[in-house]
Amino acid sequence: MITEVVENCQISSQAFRLTLDCAEIAAKAYPGQFVMIRVNQGRAAPLLRRPFSIHRLWWTCGAGSHSQGQSSPFSQGQPSPGYQDRQQSSPGSRYGQQPSGIQILFRVVGEGTAYLASLAKGAKVDLIGPLGHGFELKEPDYCPVLIAGGIGVAPLLFLADRIKEKNSWPAVATANPSAAEKKSDNPLARPWLFLGGKTAGDILCRDEFQRLGFSLAISTEDGSLGQKGLISEPLAAFLEQMISCGLKPSLFACGPIPLMDRVAEIAWQYRLSGQVSLEQRMACGVGACMGCVVEVVRGKNPPDYKRVCTEGPVFDISGF
Ligand SMILES: Cc1cc2nc3c(=O)[nH]c(=O)nc-3n(C[C@H](O)[C@H](O)[C@H](O)COP(=O)(O)OP(=O)(O)OC[C@H]3O[C@@H](n4cnc5c(N)ncnc54)[C@H](O)[C@@H]3O)c2cc1C
Ligand code: FES
Repeated sequence: MITEVVENCQISSQAFRLTLDCAEIAAKAYPGQFVMIRVNQGRAAPLLRRPFSIHRLWWTCGAGSHSQGQSSPFSQGQPSPGYQDRQQSSPGSRYGQQPSGIQILFRVVGEGTAYLASLAKGAKVDLIGPLGHGFELKEPDYCPVLIAGGIGVAPLLFLADRIKEKNSWPAVATANPSAAEKKSDNPLARPWLFLGGKTAGDILCRDEFQRLGFSLAISTEDGSLGQKGLISEPLAAFLEQMISCGLKPSLFACGPIPLMDRVAEIAWQYRLSGQVSLEQRMACGVGACMGCVVEVVRGKNPPDYKRVCTEGPVFDISGF
């Protein structure tokens, strides 16, 4: 479908947040799904569409526009008194309205993403979606632990919005906390995001997660922000602490394959549930070309292959 650019913001030296007016796609989308974007308007190359995760839903509402979780005329950054009631409305709706579009968070790495970075307000964009199998929020008594490597943070903000809608935890402690609030006073029981990158410029969306009430652990390989090293290092120790407090972490991860491998290893070690979103080069995006096949259960005989575009990109961690 042909959509229109509402806004294209540069948020770091290499990353952009693109807002597209596409109510039809937004109404059907759920976290972890992606869109295939045509990046060759008016030219022969690049021939193939490029896959991008749906980063967030976007609303227009009377006095202005905002994305989910962002300050709005209704929320001012905090759930309004009627927030619980509005959560009961149909999936994909908020503030009594259907979303008007989606946001894409992308890093410029080549010709296609450079083209997206050049798009100005009002430009037309041809996309297909929502595609693929996304994250499932199925366990009611779990403590969500999100893990992102670099631009892998993109789909996790949409997931964080949904986690926030399904659970409540106080942004600030109140004078007379309810039993549920007391439980969430334990910092380990709050939702967490483990965010890693090569350098400080790769660490995106911190404020957005914090506004949703997530606690953050940050690491960079060069030590320019947070702890020096890989994000998987503090993760294992943290999960052990959670388990020893009787909490049940559930992992949701997106990022480079070596990080996903390590997260799956940790999940296996502590017998944890979770889901991982995989990035694979894609040609068709709809299951026809077999170009995105991965072996999901390593070492199985015969091997278990799945198409990332249709059976994924999100897979259960136990089979990864
Ligand atoms: C399901 C899915 C969701 C994605 N979501 C996002 C997102 O939200 N934000 C984002 O910035 N990127 C995302 N990607 C990766 C994105 O599709 C690629 O960065 C993009 O296609 C690069 O296009 P290009 O023409 O700019 O680069 P190209 O010229 O095609 O390639 C430039 C460099 O990037 C590498 N590259 C290209 N595609 C991939 C890929 N899929 N995985 C790993 N390396 C790749 C190439 O090997 C090459 O080194 C996602 C990929 C998948 C499969
Ligand atoms: S990209 Fe064609 S089958 Fe997945």
